[in-house]
Amino acid sequence: MSQVFTLTHYKGGQGASVAAAVLAHTLRNHARVLLVSDTHDALGALGIASPLDDFTPDISLDSRLQPLDFLRVGDTDTSEPIASQYTRALLAAEVPTLAVVDLPPALLPALDDFHRHTQKVRDVTRVVVCRGDYLSLRSTSAAVTGLPGGHGAAVLTFDEPDRALTARDVEVVLRVEGRAMVAPWSPAFARVIDAGMLPYRLDMMPEALRYLDALAPLIRSAREWLHALTV
Ligand SMILES: Nc1ncnc2c1ncn2[C@@H]1O[C@H](COP(=O)(O)OP(=O)(O)OP(=O)(O)O)[C@@H](O)[C@H]1O
Ligand SMILES: [Mg+2]
Repeated sequence: MSQVFTLTHYKGGQGASVAAAVLAHTLRNHARVLLVSDTHDALGALGIASPLDDFTPDISLDSRLQPLDFLRVGDTDTSEPIASQYTRALLAAEVPTLAVVDLPPALLPALDDFHRHTQKVRDVTRVVVCRGDYLSLRSTSAAVTGLPGGHGAAVLTFDEPDRALTARDVEVVLRVEGRAMVAPWSPAFARVIDAGMLPYRLDMMPEALRYLDALAPLIRSAREWLHALTV
């Protein structure tokens, strides 16, 4: 049985892979985690540098944490459909598994299709990652607004002190007033990411703690889901 969190972005460089890395790393305090991506970015953000071409079980950075499995989907050089690679990985992982999916929108329908038809996945939480600038908002709002019933995704945005637009502006444009998760975006945090030190700073750096606070609704949902499985 799995609970899935998909993080996606409609313009490059929104911090989606870093968000997936932070979430995956934190969820490992609670359960086995499968990190699904079309690149190595989220894995790279966790300081795991070596490219992995396929599902590789039991990558552990820290023995206190549950295993992290990693699946790269959507490679042009593999003929196996995304959904089947993903199914295989979920089946191979021990239950219960929390899956964190870091994929561009074009690759999500294949997964959504699988989610709809399987008993294996109980809950899917969709998160759209969008920074507060005109170009990001423009492409994100064009993609997510106007859909019947709203886009139904949680929004992760950032508190970026030097920018013209605020997190509140992002909420207004994406019609999620008061409901976005707002994480910090700062030069100090960028340095930690770019040095590959993220997992080693997550429980001590003020920005990292604020980042985890922002993701609290997702972490809480995972914990509640795991709790419900055991009672
Ligand atoms: N919260 C943050 N604060 C400061 N810098 C950040 C933050 N998140 C990400 N960055 C910086 O932005 C860069 C890009 O982040 P990331 O790879 O997560 O973006 P992305 O949305 O996944 O981009 P892509 O379009 O390549 O998928 C990182 O290498 C890091 O330098
Ligand atoms: Mg990315």
